[in-house]
Amino acid sequence: MTTSRKTPILLTGATGYIGGAVLAHLLNHPNASNFEICTIVRNSAKASALRSKFGVNVVEGTFQDLDKVESLAEKSHVIFHLADADDESFMKAILAGMRKRHVTLGDLPVLIHTASSGTGVIVDDARGAFASETIYNDNDVTQMKSIPDTAFHRNVDLLVFNADTEGYIRGNIVAPSTVYGIAKNALVNAGVANDHSIQIPILVRASLARGRAGVVGEGKAIWPDVHIDDLAGLYISIFNAIVNKPDTTGHGFEGFYFGENGEHSWMSISCAIGDAMVALGYTSDASPSPFSTEELIKYFGSEAAGLYSGTNARCRADRGRALGWKPKYTTLDMLKSVRDEVEHYGELMKGGKLDFKFEPAAGK
Ligand SMILES: NC(=O)c1ccc[n+]([C@@H]2O[C@H](COP(=O)([O-])OP(=O)(O)OC[C@H]3O[C@@H](n4cnc5c(N)ncnc54)[C@H](OP(=O)(O)O)[C@@H]3O)[C@@H](O)[C@H]2O)c1
Repeated sequence: MTTSRKTPILLTGATGYIGGAVLAHLLNHPNASNFEICTIVRNSAKASALRSKFGVNVVEGTFQDLDKVESLAEKSHVIFHLADADDESFMKAILAGMRKRHVTLGDLPVLIHTASSGTGVIVDDARGAFASETIYNDNDVTQMKSIPDTAFHRNVDLLVFNADTEGYIRGNIVAPSTVYGIAKNALVNAGVANDHSIQIPILVRASLARGRAGVVGEGKAIWPDVHIDDLAGLYISIFNAIVNKPDTTGHGFEGFYFGENGEHSWMSISCAIGDAMVALGYTSDASPSPFSTEELIKYFGSEAAGLYSGTNARCRADRGRALGWKPKYTTLDMLKSVRDEVEHYGELMKGGKLDFKFEPAAGK
């Protein structure tokens, strides 16, 4: 039990792209002096920097150290779960700690969990062939409940919904879409946090490696997008609403938030990659061509993972907006941001450092 009067907050994924951005926002929060933030980090140098430069408590460890995770969760009133979030054991350890806290202190701890698949929970199998007309709205609880239990990484989200229903946590889930933009914040500047996202970078790397912008099928399918700073702002809006208006802020299925501020076709991203590749001298042909099956396996890890970049996942983030969340970056900003990614990964390619790390979030 903590004797501190500050709000004990656990944040997982502090060194990550989303986690670093959210932590940067929390450190700049008007009430930051009332927060006692703790993280679990596996890299010693980054742990030291978090302590010395940002005054953040750090427990060194991995997400496989389940005893540590459970104990940290028990000490926390609020948990921002922003790390690789597709691990059931990890989530069960967090929930076990929260349950103990509830039983021993009578506290109702708050979990703001990141759906590992993000809007991948609502994908179809379009393979780039069509734009779906089905649009999910996070304010439509019936529609949210209709997402099958077998959806991508839904098993972990269900643990959160169930714990909320049992009543020992106040559970919330954020499902980000295509998060974009090279993150710029104090944690990135200090070399602590990752500044690159997943979906657009993987398309950029594959396109550079094959010497021409690639696309899955005809690129007609549609996904939503959200800038990394706007997404971080959504987590803070949810947190503020829970703290300031607990009685009127929903939880469980009424605490499920998509993160989007616009949508794009996959072809539009591939065209932006092609334009940037021409402008930067990587090809003379800006027009995207379809990835072959061999290329999907080579650049995305498997054909299924590659085809993920040809799915539809259309949705509206009305619940977050109703809390007062005001995202400011648009899909046009997303398309403009592609050139920075091509420039970055192009430099890595020139240095022989273009790697293909296959991310679970990319549909593996
Ligand atoms: N980025 C997107 O567009 C997007 C969209 C939808 C959903 N998501 C989901 O959001 C979550 C975070 O994504 P992200 O883009 O921020 O990823 P990221 O930059 O790769 O960050 C992952 C974080 O998890 C930590 N981590 C992973 N495995 C660990 C382990 N075994 N022990 C200790 N720390 C571990 C990493 O630590 P290290 O720094 O030590 O590696 C890092 O802090 C993921 O579940 C992702 O699937 C992301």
